[in-house]
Amino acid sequence: MKPRILQTGALSPGLDAQLAEEFDVLRLWECDTPLAALADSGAPVRGIATSAPVGVPDDLLAALPDLEVISCRGVGLDRIDLASCRARGIQVAGTFGVLSDCVADLALGLMIDAARRISEAERFVRAGRWSREKFPLATRISGQRLGIVGLGQIGQAVARRAAAFDMEIRYTGRMEKIGQPWAYEDSLVELAAWADMLVLTVLGGASTEGMVSAEVLEALGPRGYLINVARGSVVDEAALLGALAGGGIAGAALDVFADEPHVPEAFLALENVVLLPHIGSGTKETRRDMEALVLRNLQSYFRTGAVVTPAPD
Ligand code: DGY
Repeated sequence: MKPRILQTGALSPGLDAQLAEEFDVLRLWECDTPLAALADSGAPVRGIATSAPVGVPDDLLAALPDLEVISCRGVGLDRIDLASCRARGIQVAGTFGVLSDCVADLALGLMIDAARRISEAERFVRAGRWSREKFPLATRISGQRLGIVGLGQIGQAVARRAAAFDMEIRYTGRMEKIGQPWAYEDSLVELAAWADMLVLTVLGGASTEGMVSAEVLEALGPRGYLINVARGSVVDEAALLGALAGGGIAGAALDVFADEPHVPEAFLALENVVLLPHIGSGTKETRRDMEALVLRNLQSYFRTGAVVTPAPD
């Protein structure tokens, strides 16, 4: 008998079809069984396939007493209660390793866009202003100081790329590899005060919520740029809006927001911020690799008892 898994939402036509072939799939978005009755609606639900933006809501987790494994498309597992999963012996897998380069590519793109004012310049041309006005000078990125907040796989991929731009690099956050060539800075405020650009590649969740505070932005200062490819929750958005509008920092580029897909109105009126719809891992190649890993983690669990890319402890 095929193991029963629950899918929280459509992932992609290819992966949805493969999951349906290998497993007895309960599609949450098509099923009208109330959560409280899910456990009694046929075979026990042993697995979940989900995505990082959806995660596994607490009431769903609580409604599935037979759950053994969660396979998530993405690496930001802040919408899954990992402590409860650990306590219940539920294995949780993310698509670690296959999206780092793609997110780091976007971070570099955003760093260049913010400093060189590329999106702003593009709007300037489209608005027909070039023949009447001079576009203001931008900021060079080569040779600038880059502070990386969170030196995991994505942070390291950003650092390798930034090194090719002769940027000076320091970082803060958990050190994932012994013998980093980059200097460690214990305090985020001091890192911000040193840096010309601060890039966020740290995990989301309670431990990092609001860590980029008004104090950190003040330390970054009027020549500094903030780049966020991590989670919106890491930044105090009200403080960031104040800093951008009042010249407290030079600019920002954001791929993520606290309440996606809602983007606070006030950002839309500002020229010195680049706004993207959470596309860090959004390439055809990376999504294909992530989806293959979502499937492989479930297959591996049901064949061997262990997922391939577990969430770190
Ligand atoms: C991730 O993997 O967490 C990305 O942000 C996609 O949600």
